[in-house]
Amino acid sequence: MRQSDIPSVYALVAEMEWNIEISYLEFVFNIDPTGLVVVVKDDGELIGHCGFLAHSDTIGCFGLNIIKEKYQHMGIGKQMFREAMKVMGDRNIGMNSLSNRITFYTPFGWTIKSYTFHHNQGPVNPEFIAVVPEGDFEVVSARDIKFDDVIAYDSEIHTVPRSVYISYWARHQLANTYVALKSGRVVGYGVVRPSDVGYKMYPLYADDPKIAKALFCRLALHIPAGQVLSFIQPIENDQANEFVVGNKLTSRFVMTRLYNKWNIPLDIKRVYSISSSEYGII
Ligand SMILES: CC(C)(COP(=O)(O)OP(=O)(O)OC[C@H]1O[C@@H](n2cnc3c(N)ncnc32)[C@H](O)[C@@H]1OP(=O)(O)O)[C@@H](O)C(=O)NCCC(=O)NCCS
Repeated sequence: MRQSDIPSVYALVAEMEWNIEISYLEFVFNIDPTGLVVVVKDDGELIGHCGFLAHSDTIGCFGLNIIKEKYQHMGIGKQMFREAMKVMGDRNIGMNSLSNRITFYTPFGWTIKSYTFHHNQGPVNPEFIAVVPEGDFEVVSARDIKFDDVIAYDSEIHTVPRSVYISYWARHQLANTYVALKSGRVVGYGVVRPSDVGYKMYPLYADDPKIAKALFCRLALHIPAGQVLSFIQPIENDQANEFVVGNKLTSRFVMTRLYNKWNIPLDIKRVYSISSSEYGII
């Protein structure tokens, strides 16, 4: 894939209503374009894209996976997938499959199911955020603290340090990032960012549900009335589910994280909203 392909990939993703900003595609490309694959017709039309992003020498994440509707069911998707597999090398590759499509990936080796999550969307319920928990912690803007502490906390939960990735996402000029501190130590953080459709609230990681809700309430204040919130909740986190129920969010689709070599166990109780279902580990 070349930099000049980005607008066509964006058009393809937008056509599918996947709500992935062009700036996110540029960002993934700028981190490392070597794993990104496109399908281009002889006349130059771009009709497919998928790829993987290396998180380390041993771990990578597969992301997106799309063939223009007019060209589906002609064998192109399978061929594109095989090409992408060649560039993945020997890494353990995580990918998110629609939960009702996981058997497609079995013959290719993605047999290890890690966790399942819902892509939820809907307006924030003002009554839900009216009650803000208090405790022996404070919630501050990430601009007021050393960001290295957030990166360290993120690395602990995400399992693979990703300072470039998370710095871009959480310190973007449009992002609002809040951090929960207990005696000066990071015990949670969350990001809210405008996207093509509504606002994305992820990641949201916290050591306990009270801290998570306090962060949720603070972040939600940045979402103007009438706008929708996107919130990607792992089903194993019951407390995160209460946020979904409390705001009456609608599940748009359900995905399962698969690995092809080994599982990467996560402390999912601290994960309330997944940082990105595309190219991130959680
Ligand atoms: C999934 C997709 C990339 C497959 O491309 P394709 O060119 O239509 O696939 P092929 O013609 O090579 O393969 C035919 C079959 O294998 C399935 N398949 C092929 N590649 C696939 C892939 N990477 N992931 C899932 N299923 C795939 C196709 O869905 C199709 O199954 P069906 O006939 O029972 O519907 C394409 O259908 C698409 O863009 N769908 C919409 C986006 C989407 O759902 N992406 C997957 C998210 S997990």
